[in-house]
Amino acid sequence: MTQAPAPESAGFDLILSHGTVVTPGGRANTDVGVRGGRIVAIGDLGTAKTANRVDCAGLHILPGVIDTQVHFREPGLTHKEDIEHGTMAAACGGVTAIFEMPNVKPLTITPETLADKMQLAARAPWVDYAFYFGGTANNAAHLAEWENLPGVCGIKIFMGSSTGDLLCAEDEHIENILRHGKRIVAAHAEDEAMMNANKATLLGDSHDVRLHPVWRSVESCVSATTRLIRLARKTGRRVHILHISTAEELDIIKDHKDIVSCEVLPNHLTFSAPDCYERLGTRAQQNPPIREQRHQDALWAAVNNGLIDILGSDHAAHTIDEKDQTYPASPSGTPGVQTLVPVMLNHIHEGRLSLERFVELVSYGPQRIHQIANKGRIALGYDADFTIVDLNATHTITNAQQKSKCGWTPYDGMRVTGWPVMTVVRGHIVMRDDELVGSPVGTPVRFRETL
Ligand code: DOR
Repeated sequence: MTQAPAPESAGFDLILSHGTVVTPGGRANTDVGVRGGRIVAIGDLGTAKTANRVDCAGLHILPGVIDTQVHFREPGLTHKEDIEHGTMAAACGGVTAIFEMPNVKPLTITPETLADKMQLAARAPWVDYAFYFGGTANNAAHLAEWENLPGVCGIKIFMGSSTGDLLCAEDEHIENILRHGKRIVAAHAEDEAMMNANKATLLGDSHDVRLHPVWRSVESCVSATTRLIRLARKTGRRVHILHISTAEELDIIKDHKDIVSCEVLPNHLTFSAPDCYERLGTRAQQNPPIREQRHQDALWAAVNNGLIDILGSDHAAHTIDEKDQTYPASPSGTPGVQTLVPVMLNHIHEGRLSLERFVELVSYGPQRIHQIANKGRIALGYDADFTIVDLNATHTITNAQQKSKCGWTPYDGMRVTGWPVMTVVRGHIVMRDDELVGSPVGTPVRFRETL
């Protein structure tokens, strides 16, 4: 790729030089110039004036990774996590922006609870942020207005119960939510009634975590996804299905890509049953569950044939004491925002996906599905968000590295090749060589539909 040299007279706040830059047009060995938090030059900046020149020789410069599904537990559940620690973990993991979920206490389902969260977030955000607004039977009629509040990235519905009290299980109520508003509606698609029936008949009094994918069955996911797509068609509203865990759902979604987008998680691409439950016990427990290898194989096929739009971590922190309770009293969810990039770079190293496809899943995909303004690509005029990685560095992931308040990871002890070495948020370096740098600079993400 050839590019014109940038004007030498202009001073830059930051120049990233000699890296391999992943641009929409392909990889380019070039420099990137930043001024005022934006990308203002891509080209040879060898002699340009700058306050800060960072030599990126041997490194790959990716668009900032946007993790579109995290649970940072604030307010109300801050013994597990808070926005400061969650965003510290994000920065250390090479993530430049996060979208956070509404299943906190109180639930993020009114303008007041959203405003409260925005204030809490503004205290010490290490990366940029936005919040999902929870959709319920009671607030549906207001959503066309409330979905446009500053800081909102979309509407979230839980069709099946998970952590917290947010639940919208009935078709009538889901339809009402879909009829009010235009922005993306993201769904946790598990069928509440089917899971309740399964719990009584299949789980009974058992304490065996290997039954997690039996109770929270394939059929339950298929039912919820099928119902949601029918309602999306009926109302003409596009929907985003979070954390797909079954081969069967992929087979359905492929016929509805005009109206349905979907997400996959690193955990579902890395772990499989029964091995994960035998090795990790309840630390592998999450909703929807990690399932047998045939599902993982189908998810990888969907990653590589383009069916999947987004990869998010579903960072869902619980303390070790909570996780170590006897199943099923143990809560579902694992931390993941700090391990998303290294785990996926290791998959790239092992040949399961390309670097370009990874960038699509964590930057271009989030930008496209959520209509993010000015983020998600290395191009002139975009925010200067970068995830700078060393594809050849080998490290071991450990609990001790984790910045999350919960202090553990299901990947503890895993050796990976590929590591984030610098995180840049709108021109500010916030992580370098595993250390937080500077101060929390995060601001709310902006969206095209609400500019
Ligand atoms: O395993 C999960 N944990 N799945 C969810 O959908 C929610 C999450 C949490 O908040 O703990």
